[in-house]
Amino acid sequence: MLPDPARILEAVALLNAGELVAFPTETVYGLGADARNPSAVARIFAAKGRPAGHPLIVHVSGLAAAREWIAELPDVARRLADTFWPGPLTIVLPKAGDVPAGVTGGQSTIALRAPAHPVARALLAAFGGGIAAPSANRYGRISPTRAADVREELGDRVALVLDGGDCDVGLESTIVACLGNRVTLLRPGAVSRSQLADVAGQVAEADAASPRAPGRERSHYAPRTALAVIEPGKLLAEVERALAGGLRLAVLARSAAPVTSDRLVWRQLGEQPAEYGRALYATLRDLDRAGAARILVETVPGDESWAAIADRLRRAAAQGPDGAVTDAT
Ligand code: TXA
Ligand code: MG
Repeated sequence: MLPDPARILEAVALLNAGELVAFPTETVYGLGADARNPSAVARIFAAKGRPAGHPLIVHVSGLAAAREWIAELPDVARRLADTFWPGPLTIVLPKAGDVPAGVTGGQSTIALRAPAHPVARALLAAFGGGIAAPSANRYGRISPTRAADVREELGDRVALVLDGGDCDVGLESTIVACLGNRVTLLRPGAVSRSQLADVAGQVAEADAASPRAPGRERSHYAPRTALAVIEPGKLLAEVERALAGGLRLAVLARSAAPVTSDRLVWRQLGEQPAEYGRALYATLRDLDRAGAARILVETVPGDESWAAIADRLRRAAAQGPDGAVTDAT
């Protein structure tokens, strides 16, 4: 979907006035504010119900625009940006001295991304500055991949939702940190670990010494209905057991439903990880509305092309000790 120039101008005026504007990216919709305006940035946290201290991604039009936000640009980061920007890669770098603390959660680093969606690019070009934007969901919820999902999540907490159609990738960006000669994968996404390694050489897994990142929190991207990930070989027995017990059940599987019941909502997403990833969040939202006691999701393959999906499913299934979500930015 192409940008509507009048809507882009309206969005820029709102950003300049310190208001929030939701906009599409190729990954998920973002909830944007002028990254240089601390009170606008504070509104993001209020609208999402997100605890302060969680750092935001600053969206920029490209590497030239990224420079004002960083203290240094390691050669490996320049190569990564040259290769994958605009696109679904976020790069964490040492921040410049004048970056408002609210954006980085008080950390010494900043996350930057140049998105590829034409509406996001038009907005960034017209606005001229950096746009701080987390995913446009309420804290603890699934990221929105359609404009209608943003409205459902945020209602009138956002001044304007730019509609860019359905997000093409459907999963949040890959996050990589380039700090002190080390390249560390913090969140898997559409840019795979081996694609990163082709450009960066060694790519480390996040560990205790890495910057705080969502992958190390327990729960994220969770539907309201309890969700469990289950091996294909155990799925049918589990479904039959639940139905025999009178429960209503929602299933996301890679194969067609082996049984039918008016208490069973079965959604099939196929064998292609790109298509699966694109449809995953919208499908989970639908299943969440099915009034089921549980959502069962069939495990996905273990190879790299499914890594981001497996990561999101694992975190959608993780609940805090009392069923509360423990981190969901
Ligand atoms: O695809 C995406 O990345 C989407 C679109 C809108 O760009 N944005 C997104 O933002 O997913 P958010 O806030 O929902 O997730 C960004 C994650 C946060 O969980 C945060 O922990 C991590 O990025 N992050 C941000 N700044 C960081 C930093 N300086 N160091 C480590 N992690 C950081
Ligand atoms: Mg998020």
